Amino acid sequence: MKSDYKNGDAIARKVDALVNEALKTLVPYAPGKPMEELERELGISDSIKLASNESSMGPSPRAVAAIAEALRGLHRYPDGSAYRLVHKIAARLGVGANGIVLGNGSNEIIELVVRGFMLPGDEAVFAHPSFAIYPLVVQAAGGLGVPVPLKDLTHDLPAMARAVTPRTKIVFVCNPNNPTGTAVRKDAFEAFLRDLPDGVLVAVDEAYFEYMDDPQRVDSLQYHDSGKILLTLRTFSKCYGLAGLRIGYGVGHPRLIDYLHRVRQPFNVNWLAQVGALAALDDDAHLRVSVENNREQLARIYKALDAMGVRYTRSQANFLLLHLPGGDGKAVYDRLLRRGVIVRPMDSYDLPGTIRVTVGTPEENTRFLAELGEVIQ
Ligand SMILES: Cc1ncc(COP(=O)(O)O)c(C=O)c1O
Repeated sequence: MKSDYKNGDAIARKVDALVNEALKTLVPYAPGKPMEELERELGISDSIKLASNESSMGPSPRAVAAIAEALRGLHRYPDGSAYRLVHKIAARLGVGANGIVLGNGSNEIIELVVRGFMLPGDEAVFAHPSFAIYPLVVQAAGGLGVPVPLKDLTHDLPAMARAVTPRTKIVFVCNPNNPTGTAVRKDAFEAFLRDLPDGVLVAVDEAYFEYMDDPQRVDSLQYHDSGKILLTLRTFSKCYGLAGLRIGYGVGHPRLIDYLHRVRQPFNVNWLAQVGALAALDDDAHLRVSVENNREQLARIYKALDAMGVRYTRSQANFLLLHLPGGDGKAVYDRLLRRGVIVRPMDSYDLPGTIRVTVGTPEENTRFLAELGEVIQ
């Protein structure tokens, strides 16, 4: 890497000698391609992005109005305890305020729990492929990630329980799983909790919880009294349409939450995020629109894919995994990209021949399906 420093190479060598050894092999998370970047590259202005599982229904208008109003207070630090939002979430969920910790996205809660509970050499179990952040955060902390292959594209919970060793601190359960959209069912989750050795923290990542409609869906909050150590992660980034604000939360036993507060920044959740989330919680109508659009559009996409003869995995979230004829996910991704449609190739997730597509607006889905039809001809 070229630098403007006079003694750049010498300093780079010193930095290498100093850095946490685990970072040397860490490959950073690759986010979905930004629309602006693609439009610059192609010289177009009508791209659509179905790559980052954002809500196609946008933010709650109430949240937008509340944020506009709050802009005048930007010279102040936010309330570091986020009193109003924490109490509102707690009341909604029927838990105490001391059982909630907010984060700069639920992503931050993943970092807090790893930083708070893992020492170098400790292990964390997660499914593979699953949310790519778990192994990164664990590696950055010097921990050892223990990936357990999915079975039929779903968490293999019995195998995950068996993967626990005396060094295991955390088991991540991503439900529904990103990138497959599959969810574990109640009976499997209950058996998992029974099988799991005591003294391990189970972080249940429910980023897409609000979209789930399976009557057998797991609400991990129901199991907080099961005797196991549970941490439920939820977010305003998906169904609430506030990904750009960066706000999510963790729910757990007050002792666990107390430790997570100790490792967070004093003002980890910014003022606009607090205000926006508070208003969004009052906008049930907007949440319903997001859920309903997702349900209707998923059904419609399934039908169109059936007609095209494209296989897919049924999803409990706002995205779905397509298994492409010919088995070349990256090639289809590239061809769609050239037509201004951004999806996510899953080859790097060890799912060759697949792409992950976020459910868009009806118009976006029409365009995606039309372009896909042409691309796979
Ligand atoms: C499974 C899962 N967990 C957590 C996150 C992070 O969400 P947030 O925006 O709340 O940090 C994502 C985002 O894509 C996700 O897919």
